[in-house]
Amino acid sequence: MENSNYPFVNTPLPYDYDALEPFIDEKTMYLHHDKHLQTYIDNLNAVLEKHPELQKLSLEQLIKISVRLPKPLQTTVRNNAGGVYNHRFFFEGLTNPAQKEPHGRLAQAINQCFSDFDRFESEFKKAALSVFGSGYAWLVYSRHRLRTVTTPNQNTPIEQGLCPILNIDVWEHAYYLKHYNLRAEYIDDWFNIINWDKAEQNLINCIKNRN
Ligand SMILES: [Fe+2]
Repeated sequence: MENSNYPFVNTPLPYDYDALEPFIDEKTMYLHHDKHLQTYIDNLNAVLEKHPELQKLSLEQLIKISVRLPKPLQTTVRNNAGGVYNHRFFFEGLTNPAQKEPHGRLAQAINQCFSDFDRFESEFKKAALSVFGSGYAWLVYSRHRLRTVTTPNQNTPIEQGLCPILNIDVWEHAYYLKHYNLRAEYIDDWFNIINWDKAEQNLINCIKNRN
């Protein structure tokens, strides 16, 4: 991940704001990246400015050690480092036009763990719909298997030692302007813009790092 140390900067999206149209609209992408993600970056830098002992840690290290920090520092670091990590992961996982389905090693792993792609799609959608309030659904790799998990707020699977492959942001700010309250329609649209090459690369890295 680019710029993974203090001071954090908002690295540009790997595509234009309107690149994901018609599935995710330009205004949502602009606000999501330039306002929502920027706020997490600003808040994270502000807390790290007051804690020089944490400034040398990477984003992932900050998330992993946050549980050992005293409250309320723990909550602030967890929410804001998680907010940066989760959003970057989400934005980097999208592309348009996209392939309809994964291929290669990821396709094999999905078929092995979910029977087939359709079954994976319906399980993932169910998970994303089950998030109460704000959070994320993830495809993760752990103990030689793929599975779906959800995280509330800006929690991340790496806190639990799980290796992320793919995520969807189901906070309302990710879809409300276009899809209103219809999260299911947003999820269906999101399935059209998944960067499967990136997801496969994530799987290969997870395997290499022996998760
Ligand atoms: Fe978001």
